Amino acid sequence: MKGVVLAGGKGTRLYPLTYATNKHLLPVYDQPMVYYPIQTLVNAGITEVMVVTGDIHAGDFINVIKNGKDLGLTHVEYAFQEGGSVGIADALKYAESFSDGEPIAVILGDNTTDADISGAVQHYTQAGEGAMVFLKKVIDPERFGNPVFDKNNPEKIVEIVEKPKKATSPYAVTGLYFYDAQVYDVIRTLKPSGRGELEITDVNNWYLRKNQLMWQELKGFWSDAGTFHSLFRSSRFWAQKRLGTKYKSVVAGNAIPEV
Ligand code: G1P
Repeated sequence: MKGVVLAGGKGTRLYPLTYATNKHLLPVYDQPMVYYPIQTLVNAGITEVMVVTGDIHAGDFINVIKNGKDLGLTHVEYAFQEGGSVGIADALKYAESFSDGEPIAVILGDNTTDADISGAVQHYTQAGEGAMVFLKKVIDPERFGNPVFDKNNPEKIVEIVEKPKKATSPYAVTGLYFYDAQVYDVIRTLKPSGRGELEITDVNNWYLRKNQLMWQELKGFWSDAGTFHSLFRSSRFWAQKRLGTKYKSVVAGNAIPEV
């Protein structure tokens, strides 16, 4: 399976940090944000990747990802999304010829996780069609796509609501998705939402209506990093993970050698 990293948008929620570069190139502890989703794919054996970006800082990506070799990629290509912040589903349409009729793993460039998704890739590849989404329990489900479960069957999602006023479950639909080639036809049918974007939640609800949406809970840490709080939380998690026992000393400002 090939992968697509969606890294467009203007990152307005992070102004003024995103005045000078694209959100997905900002640091999350010791790496540019976009390295993390790329590594999630590479660790699952997905080494052919398209990065979809856009807007005025698009050119910065090539300086940071280069040809992808250092990140374990065997092939990387870039697509330019027109029209500014027009949505995740809009960005995905640029991957149609790259995916060449095959299923695709899609990950948002501001999502970082330490979950190993290789089992899910295998499971999905065996199923061979439909879509798969990954859920994570969060404290603020109103900020995300939020699954509504069947009252009589807690395993069954009946709808996904994008940023509900009041969430009906404690889960976020994370920015990791597997789709078969139908997805591009679905995107062509979408209409912009209230926030003027083509919503990935509408794509997922299409698969749900067809009874072709699988889901799994993502194990381990997951966060987006598109707001100050979530960017900070992501950096803190990765600092803790990389520094281990030295984390407390670093936070306390003790003089310890660089690690
Ligand atoms: C987007 C999706 C949302 C998903 C989230 C994950 O939200 O629309 O369904 O839960 O990514 O990061 P956005 O970052 O555009 O607010």
